[in-house]
Amino acid sequence: MKILAPSPAAISEAVEALKQGALVAFPTETVYGLGASAVDANALKRLYAAKGRPAEHPVIVHLADTDQLSDWVLHIPPAAMRLAQSLWPGPMTLILPRSVRAQDAVTGGQNSVGVRIPNHPVALELLKSFGDGVAAPSANKFGQLSPTNATDVASEFRDELAIVLDGGPCDVGIESTIIDFSQEQPRILRPGMILPEQIELIAGIKLQAGLWASSKTESTRVPGGLPSHYAPNTPLEIVSGEKLEESVRSRLESGKRVCVLSFRQPERSAVWVAASNTANVYARQLYSNLRKLDQQRADVILVEAVPTGSDWDGISDRLRRAASKIANPKDGQHDK
Ligand code: TXA
Ligand code: MG
Repeated sequence: MKILAPSPAAISEAVEALKQGALVAFPTETVYGLGASAVDANALKRLYAAKGRPAEHPVIVHLADTDQLSDWVLHIPPAAMRLAQSLWPGPMTLILPRSVRAQDAVTGGQNSVGVRIPNHPVALELLKSFGDGVAAPSANKFGQLSPTNATDVASEFRDELAIVLDGGPCDVGIESTIIDFSQEQPRILRPGMILPEQIELIAGIKLQAGLWASSKTESTRVPGGLPSHYAPNTPLEIVSGEKLEESVRSRLESGKRVCVLSFRQPERSAVWVAASNTANVYARQLYSNLRKLDQQRADVILVEAVPTGSDWDGISDRLRRAASKIANPKDGQHDK
């Protein structure tokens, strides 16, 4: 595996690697993606093996331009087209009826395909030069935290990965908002930093109310929909602002090592990471903060509950999933 600064030569090398069926990790504005040619069945096999992901989980096809949509998608409802035109390139994925070109290896055998045009110059350059769809899940092992910089990608992979294009830290920091247009009424499958009210306004539609909020109603076909996805190895607990001091104190008194992600510094705690009051900044730092805390090898990570409001929904969704590992440690699939 090579980590390359994104020069034109590096992009050409990455395109060559993709054409030969190798895996290339690349930056997007949300998180780093682990890319494979979406038309190469062997490359897709390699992708699933490297990620340790079950074959029936679909991956997002990344494109450079809306002109390429018709290669992958059977038809685009007008509301979805309005979103594509106004929010792409951007942190949004559309689930649409698939074309014959979208193989089962991409769609997980479903009749729909996820597509996205990411808003990152390196990703766009790579996708444009490659000239076809690049299948890319987040560049982490199945069940682990998504990486938001090149070093975090490199820490999880070895030679199963040819190249990591280093585009610096990701700006958005949590994965794209996923909107499913394959059913009768459009709905959000995964909340992100593109908000429901923004979607409804631009698309001129009413979204089916918050299905993603309850893990029971989610399809296990959506890895982000497994309750304990995005989990650190250290047990993580979400605690309200009022209860935080008491929670830290009682853990310390029972001899536990505690680290904390909160808006204000607790009076007592071994390790504290300051959380931003601004949702955009909180999201940008979320995964690297959780990795930092995980590396402390503490007994518990306490995270102060975030405010309510749709701009915090994507964040609280990821925190809830990270926390749910406590209830059922086996759900984390960490050894996969
Ligand atoms: O921001 C992002 O979306 C990042 C960057 C790299 O683009 N990618 C990402 O990929 O988060 P991944 O594979 O970690 O998560 C994609 C989610 C999965 O939960 C997958 O099940 C869902 O999208 N998905 C993809 N295609 C789908 C489909 N046809 N139907 C339902 N869900 C789908
Ligand atoms: Mg992922």
